[in-house]
Amino acid sequence: MATPPKAWNRDKEPFAELISAEAIAARVAELGAKITADYQDKEDIVVIGVLKGSVIFLADLARHIGLPIRMEFIGISSYGDATVSSGVVQITQDVSRPLEGKHVIVVEDIVDTGHTVHYLLENLATRRPASIKLVALLHKPERAEREVHIDFLGFTIPNKFVVGYGLDVAQQYRNLPFIGFVQGS
Ligand code: IMP
Ligand code: MG
Repeated sequence: MATPPKAWNRDKEPFAELISAEAIAARVAELGAKITADYQDKEDIVVIGVLKGSVIFLADLARHIGLPIRMEFIGISSYGDATVSSGVVQITQDVSRPLEGKHVIVVEDIVDTGHTVHYLLENLATRRPASIKLVALLHKPERAEREVHIDFLGFTIPNKFVVGYGLDVAQQYRNLPFIGFVQGS
């Protein structure tokens, strides 16, 4: 696993650490082991990363899945640069191959209101995959507006706006190696 870079001077960043890089790495390894066990007898596994927030999580998680997988990416926009969900969801970039008959594993950074994942799972289900499951690194249950079943969950977090390990605030700080929250949020 990557060592947090010395360049981050945390005293000067407006974030408080919520989940350390070490805690994330340990949990990601556990999730990978669970997925590996559950999909042992499956073929045609397609892991779909939801851009852009899941990219770092997916890169780490994929290396803890001890099975052949295909990787795809899907672009979804629901927020713009605002930190409040509009509830309006749009596919901005689609997967490159059909999903029919595939065992699809959707990888999300965070389930917040649930609108994004709800829309995405309904959309992907119309493509007749053999199965479809959801992995989310984070879940903010206090914000739920849609009921979403998360098959593999990293951490439940309080109602704070978080950044790092793929998550952004106005497209910044995705490369923060830990998950922090904006102080005062
Ligand atoms: P939802 O549709 O409200 O569940 O929001 C899902 C998307 O909003 C996530 O995939 C994130 O990209 C973004 N998002 C929600 N909460 C946060 C946060 O605390 N920090 C950064 N991005 C967030
Ligand atoms: Mg996202």
